[in-house]
Amino acid sequence: MNKGILASTARTAYGAIENVNSKLVPWREVDGQPGNYIKVLTLDAANNRVDFLFKQDPHAEFAKHEHKCTAVALTLDGLWEYREGEELHFEGTFSYEPPGSIHTPYATEEGMIVYASFQGTSDLMLDILDEDDNVIDQLRLDFFAQYYEG
Ligand SMILES: [Fe+2]
Repeated sequence: MNKGILASTARTAYGAIENVNSKLVPWREVDGQPGNYIKVLTLDAANNRVDFLFKQDPHAEFAKHEHKCTAVALTLDGLWEYREGEELHFEGTFSYEPPGSIHTPYATEEGMIVYASFQGTSDLMLDILDEDDNVIDQLRLDFFAQYYEG
């Protein structure tokens, strides 16, 4: 069956609608977070929103952070958890992370891939924290924009 233009084109748009063939968008390793990769699907600065795929290599960890945005994540593959939690996230697990949530995601030996969406009330998405919850960095929408592959 002919899948149409998105079979060979990563991105199409008509009006405000954007469509993405995520398989044609390359993974980009996240700066300062070895073993963590991102594909930015859409980035809507006017609405403080970014949608992306996130992948962790086996045993990779992402920095402890506090959400300044509302986040949702649907696990597509692998097995992962939060350092602060007890539950394992597997394919089909949906997570809702409201503003104020603090956690440190890491992958098991299976690695992981999630689809995630961040919806902010400003361009500030995450505060990066140290072990004592001091803010040591802030990730704004422009941090995600550097990984956008047009
Ligand atoms: Fe998070």
